[in-house]
Amino acid sequence: MTITPQALHEALQDIASETAQQRIEQLFTASPDRADRYRCEGPGLTLDFSKHLLTDDALQTLLELATVRSLPEAFEQLIQGQQVNRSERRPALHTLLRGTATGAQAQRASAIDKTLARMATLVEAVHDGGCRGAGGQRFTDVINLGIGGSDLGPRLICDALGSEAMPLRTHFVANIDPDDLDRTLTALDPRSTLFVICSKSFTTEETLSNAARARKWLEAAGIREQALGLHFIAVTTQVAQAGEWHIPEERCFPLWDWVGGRYSLWSAVGVSIALGLGWSTFERLLVGARLLDTHTERAAPGENLPMMMALLELWQTHYLKTDTHLVLPYAQKLAHLPDFLQQLTMESNGKRVSPAGEVLEHHTAPVLWGSAGTIGQHSYYQLLHQGTRAFSADIILPLRSGEGDLDARRALAAHALAQSRAFMVGRSEEDARALGNERGFDEATSRQFELPGNHSHTLILMDDISPECLGALIAAYEHKTYFLSVLLNLNPFDQWGVELGKEIAGHIRHLLETGESEIQMDPATLTASSAWREANSS
Ligand code: F6P
Repeated sequence: MTITPQALHEALQDIASETAQQRIEQLFTASPDRADRYRCEGPGLTLDFSKHLLTDDALQTLLELATVRSLPEAFEQLIQGQQVNRSERRPALHTLLRGTATGAQAQRASAIDKTLARMATLVEAVHDGGCRGAGGQRFTDVINLGIGGSDLGPRLICDALGSEAMPLRTHFVANIDPDDLDRTLTALDPRSTLFVICSKSFTTEETLSNAARARKWLEAAGIREQALGLHFIAVTTQVAQAGEWHIPEERCFPLWDWVGGRYSLWSAVGVSIALGLGWSTFERLLVGARLLDTHTERAAPGENLPMMMALLELWQTHYLKTDTHLVLPYAQKLAHLPDFLQQLTMESNGKRVSPAGEVLEHHTAPVLWGSAGTIGQHSYYQLLHQGTRAFSADIILPLRSGEGDLDARRALAAHALAQSRAFMVGRSEEDARALGNERGFDEATSRQFELPGNHSHTLILMDDISPECLGALIAAYEHKTYFLSVLLNLNPFDQWGVELGKEIAGHIRHLLETGESEIQMDPATLTASSAWREANSS
C-alpha cells in the first residue's frame, strides 16, 4: 500500500483508539528505557515527551507523517524566503532577523544589519548619556507603546531577564484603556522618560491613542513641540508616518512586511529589550534563536525539538481529542510566556480555511492557556486533576533559575516534577478507598479522592533562564507553530479574523459619540450603547 497522508491518518486513528485504553505508567513498565528514548535535545533545551500516551507505533507513524508531509522541506521554504504567507503574498522571514540563511537573502540581510547597527548606536548613546531628553536629563525609563506582536515578546523578555542592574527601567503599555498608560506614568518623570512607538502598521488604534496621550503628558511638563521627538523612538514599516511625529530620522527604525508581527521581537521591535537589558543581551537572544534554527534545519525528525512538539500536539488534539493545551512555566520570570504563546499559536493557527480556500474539516489550534507555577496549583489545577476536560500540557522547568534561595528553588522544582508525576499517575480507585478508610470516610466520600491521571504532557527542561535559552525556547515554539500549520494545512502568517471587530469598533465609536448608528445595528448593542452614553453624559 502506498503511504499517503490519508493512509497514515487512518493508521493513527486506529493506533489512537488502542492507545487510549492504555496507561502511561504501563508504557514505562513495558519499556524501561522509555525515558531515554522519548526525549530530544536542542540548544539549552531538553524535550522529555515520555509522559505522553504515545506508543512506539504512534511515534513511528507520526515521524512518517513528518516525512510524507515534507516538514523538513517546508522549513527550508520558510528560511529561504519562499512565499509561505500566500494570502498576503509574502515570505515570513523572522529567521533571517537572527542571521539564519542570510546567503539566500543578501539584500534583506544587509537591511537588517544596517538597522541593527543603527539600533546599537542609539542604545549605546542612551546608555552612556549621549542621547538625552529635551531638558538634558539622562533617560531612566523606557515605555514601549505597542500591542500584540509589538508588545508581548519584548514584555516577556524584559520581565524574564530584567534585574536591578538593568541600564533602564522598562514599562509596557498596550491597552487603549487610559488607566494602563496613566498608572504607568504616575511614578515617572517626563524629563527622563523615553517612549517607543512600536507598530508594524502604524495604524493600530490602541498604540496611536497611547502615543498621542504620551505626547500630551510630555507637553504638559513643558517640553516644546519641536523637542518632543527627543522623547520618542518609532519602529514601523511606515517610517514616513513616524516622521510626522517629529521623531528624528536616526530614531525611526524600519520593520518589513515580510516579518509577521507576532514573530518580530528579533527585529527593531526588540529595541526596548536592548534599551532595558543592554545590547549584548539582545544579541545573545538572537544567538539562542539562531542556534535553534540550525538545530531545526539539521536534526532528523525524531530528534528535532520543534518538529516533535508539533507532532505531539497533532497527536493530542487530533487523535486523542484534547482541545486545550496548557503552558506551565515553573519560573516566575516566565510568567508572561503563556500570554506570548497565546498570540503566537492562536493568532497563527486559529484558522478554518486552507490556503486553497477549502473549509477544514478538522480542528485547528487548541485553546492555549496557563500561568507560572505554582500559582495555578491553587486555582485551576483542581479541574486538571479531577475535571472532565481533556488537556495536554508543557511543564517548563529551568534547571538553574538565578541566585536566589536554593531551598525555595528546590521546592519550586519539586512542585513541577510532582505535578508532572501526578498528571501521569493520578490516584486509583483502590488507593482512594484506602485513603478514605484511613480517614474514616464511607465509600461514596472516598470516591472524591480519585484522580484519573493519565494526562499526557511534555516536560521541557531549560538549562537556565539565559538570553540564549530563552531565544531558543521562543524559536522552538515559533517553529512548532509553523510545522503544525503545515500539518493542519493552513496559513499561520495572516490574521484576517481580527479585522472585523476593529471595523465595527469604528462604527460603534461614532454611535457612542453621536447616539446615531452609521450602519444597521442590533437592538442589544443599541441598548448597551445608550447605557454607556447615559453613564458618561455630564
Ligand atoms: O490586531 C492584530 C494585530 O494586527 C496583530 O497581528 C499585531 O501583532 C497587532 O495587531 C499590532 O499590530 P501593529 O504592530 O501593526 O500595531
